[in-house]
Order: sequence, then C-alpha cells, then structure tokens
Amino acid sequence: MGIPFLGQCAPRKLNVGNSHFLFQPGSPATGAAEIAHGHLASMDAVFQRCIRPACSATYGVDETAFVCGRCGGLLDVAYDWSRLEVPKSLRAFEAKWAERANPLHFSGVWRFRELLPFAQPEHVLTIGEGQTILQRADGVARYVGLEPGQLFLQYEGLNPSGSFKDNGMTAAFTHARMVGARRAACASTGNTSASLAVFCSATGLMRALVFIGSGKISYGKLAQALDHGALTVQIAGDFDDAMQRVQQVASKLGIYLVNSINPFRLEGQKTIMFRVLEALHWEMPDWIVVPGGNLGNVSAFGKAFAELADLGLIDRLPRLAVINAAGADTFYQLYEKAGLRWNQGEPDEKLIDGHYRRLDAEHIRATTIASAIEINRPVNLPKALRALEKCGGVVRQVTDQDILDAKAKVGAGGLGCEPASAASVAGAKKLRQEGVIGPADRVVCILTGHQLKDPTATVAYHTADQKAFDEVLGQRGVRRATFANRAVQVPNELDEIIKAIEVYG
Ligand code: F0G
Repeated sequence: MGIPFLGQCAPRKLNVGNSHFLFQPGSPATGAAEIAHGHLASMDAVFQRCIRPACSATYGVDETAFVCGRCGGLLDVAYDWSRLEVPKSLRAFEAKWAERANPLHFSGVWRFRELLPFAQPEHVLTIGEGQTILQRADGVARYVGLEPGQLFLQYEGLNPSGSFKDNGMTAAFTHARMVGARRAACASTGNTSASLAVFCSATGLMRALVFIGSGKISYGKLAQALDHGALTVQIAGDFDDAMQRVQQVASKLGIYLVNSINPFRLEGQKTIMFRVLEALHWEMPDWIVVPGGNLGNVSAFGKAFAELADLGLIDRLPRLAVINAAGADTFYQLYEKAGLRWNQGEPDEKLIDGHYRRLDAEHIRATTIASAIEINRPVNLPKALRALEKCGGVVRQVTDQDILDAKAKVGAGGLGCEPASAASVAGAKKLRQEGVIGPADRVVCILTGHQLKDPTATVAYHTADQKAFDEVLGQRGVRRATFANRAVQVPNELDEIIKAIEVYG
C-alpha cells in the first residue's frame, strides 16, 4: 500500500508546554542526552498524570519516562478540556472530509485531533494511517449467532503497515519528534515493530530498534522489520522477556520507547473507536469486542469513551469484551477467576503478584498460534481494569481451535485477518452462546491485523497435508480444520483439470 502523504516537520523551534526544543533532523543520536526531559506542568492544558487517583502526580507533556516517578503507576495523557477547543458534536468531524487534501484531515487519526490535542498541527507526523473501514458481515454474524445486520468488523489491517498499531505509532512518533528523539525502540510480537519500522523508513526521521522473542514472530512481520531497515534484536526468550529488556535498554540509553506503556500511543488508538462511531453514523454499538495482549487497545478504548462521555459528546457507553488466547490468559484469570478489579486505582497487588509467582514457579510461558497476543505480563493491566470498570467489561479466553475456525469464517465472509484478530470473533461467539451478548445486540469486533501477516497459520489450516497441519497446528491442540478450503491437486493435463473443476466447482 502506498504512502499517500508525509506531513512531517521541518527543522523548527517547537513550543512544548513551557519548554522550547530545537529540532535538528539529521543530527547524530547521542545516547541518554538525546531525549529532552521536562518538568512538572500541571498548569498546562495538556499534561501527563498518574492514573492512580490517590497519587495523581502530574508531569509535563515533554516527559518520556512513562511511569510515575512518585509511585511507579502508569501515566495518562490528560487534558484540561475547559482550556481547549472541542467540537460541540461528533458530527462536526464530518466536515473534515471535504478537506482531504490536507494530510491532517486525510489521516483517520488526526482528523479527530481535537480529541487528542497534545500536539500542534505543524508537529504532527502522518503517513496516511487510519483509512480503515467498518464492514457489515452477515455471514460472520450467522456464525457468531447474531441477527443479520448486527455484526460489524472494524478492519484495521488496512493501515500502511497492516495493523492497528499505526494509529498509535503516528501519535507516539509525533511525540517523539516533539521531544527531539533520534532513536525509537520497542519490544514486539511483530506488529509494533513493523509499524515502527515503516514510520522510520517512510520519514527517515528516526532509527528503529526492535526487540523480538526469537522464533516468536510470524514471517510476515519479521519481513517488515528487516525490509524497512530496523535494527532487529532477536532475544533468546519471549515477548515478556523482550518487554522487560527494552524498558531497561531504553532508560539506560535514553531511547524513546514506543510500546503501549507510552500513553501517547494510546491517544492515537482512541481514534479506532471514533471511526467506529463515525461509520455507525454516531450511534453507539452495544458491544466492542477486542483481542487482548498487552491491553493497550482496551485501555485506549475505555479512555476514549470516558472522555467522550465527560465532554457530553455521547450519552451512553458500549460494553467492552476482551478476548485472551487460552494459552496467554493472564487477564482472564485475574479478572474473571480471581475477581481482580480497578478498585479506584488500587487493584489488589497480592492477586497480581500471586499469579505471576505461580507462572514462574510452574514455568508457564505464554503459548498460542495467535502469536500477536502471546503475552502473559500485560503492561497496561491497571488501565484495562479501569476501562472494564467504566464500560461494564468482561474477559473471555478462546482456544487456538476456536481462533482458527473463526479466522476461516472471517476470511470466507469478506476481509481476512491474522489469528490474534479472529480471537475477537471467537470471543463474540462464546459470549453469544453464554447469552451475555443477545441475538439482537449490535456488536463490533476489532480485526487488528491483516491476513497476510501470518500466512503460515492460514495455509496450515487449509492444507490437505496432515503432516504440515500437525507440524504447525497439531502441537497447539488444533485437531480439525472444520472450515478448510483445500487446494485441489491435479496432474498437468487439460482433461484432468477440467474434470476437477466440474467435480469441485
Ligand atoms: N492483535 C494484534 C494483531 C496485535 O499485534 C496485538 C498486539 C494485539 C491484537 C493485542 O493488542 O496489546 O493492545 O492488547 N501486538 C503487540 C505487538 C504486542 O508487539 O505488535 P493489545
């Protein structure tokens, strides 16, 4: 997919909160000094704030630590809306379509800029992300058990790097440029790294450093990191190991971190919900169903709805459902089994520690064919709890069998997706069977990544070769390919080919 626009900053003096930084694209990276550090700025209209109400420490918009210096909690990007200009209705955003030649209005993220107003328009960096669509999918609705017209698939695979990550990356990248960063790093199961690599190669403004678990990322995603020139570090470990290491390395070397622990990433991901509402003519759906990995999306979605409600732009909230893979189900275990709750910002740490201690003692590592969500230590856990509290959330887990069957149904019913994305559809089906979702509820499943991200899983599911099936899927407990579309083998002879078409066609 081409890159339609590059709305990038020329060297200029920036006004960030009360501080001024000079951008000098092309200047060499200089380790810890390369990120300018900020100041407490609670008087600014935009700032960062610890999510724990009991702490609520505030930090300048130019800070890059991304955890609270006082209590270690996660941070939000926070706004004093009374000092910012916000449209009186969501419908007002439609006017921007008439001005699509402006890269800021073309972007599916930045055309909602007034709802993530942390950057001046001239600082925004966009590669045309967020041109995604909401697809009504009646075939998939039938599979899930919903009435026709009630199931929609929000297809984020249409982004330039093929996943929803570009929504967050444009925001993080913009912030990175605001603070003068020259290098950006992430740990990744493959999509964050692909997105960072694309942004870096498309703009030439930063050097990408990506940490991935060795053998833990699909070839499509690894190919993107390599092809786009990212410095790719394969760690002998999994995502949870890589996440820990990248935080250490980023803080030691002063490299800008773009994982979803970065609150600016989540500002961009809020816009997935704005686009869903836009496509539904601003009518609120009953359910948003999303796969859960590091829990950035659900956290962003909860924040989006909380802010829209605070601003009086919506009059009701949807319910949120997070779907874990059964082999990477920390959130399900803690929320549904152990009863962990937000609890006004003080979730029971003993439950969380106990869970992680048990994983360590029993040497349990995350394992699922949905490698994008093969994560057992989600960094956004507290924010996700807050989102579920706000939106009456539920968590479910689905097996790899459920995921691949749902994925085949998504593919047969329209736009394809990678395995992790199909967890949302498998989860909706489960919630429908339980009666939690009603047959006439309006449900939006988020398809987070493109089908071509992980062709190995798809081809193994559809293959007629039992050995190939077992090698990729059998070891993961997948027993059948109920919805397989097998290729037909024929000799290279015209009569045989025609006979095969008549028999199978
Ligand atoms: N779906 C896909 C396709 C993903 O790549 C991810 C996360 C998720 C769902 C989970 O989203 O973390 O917001 O709960 N991928 C990250 C990565 C971890 O490194 O690419 P989440």
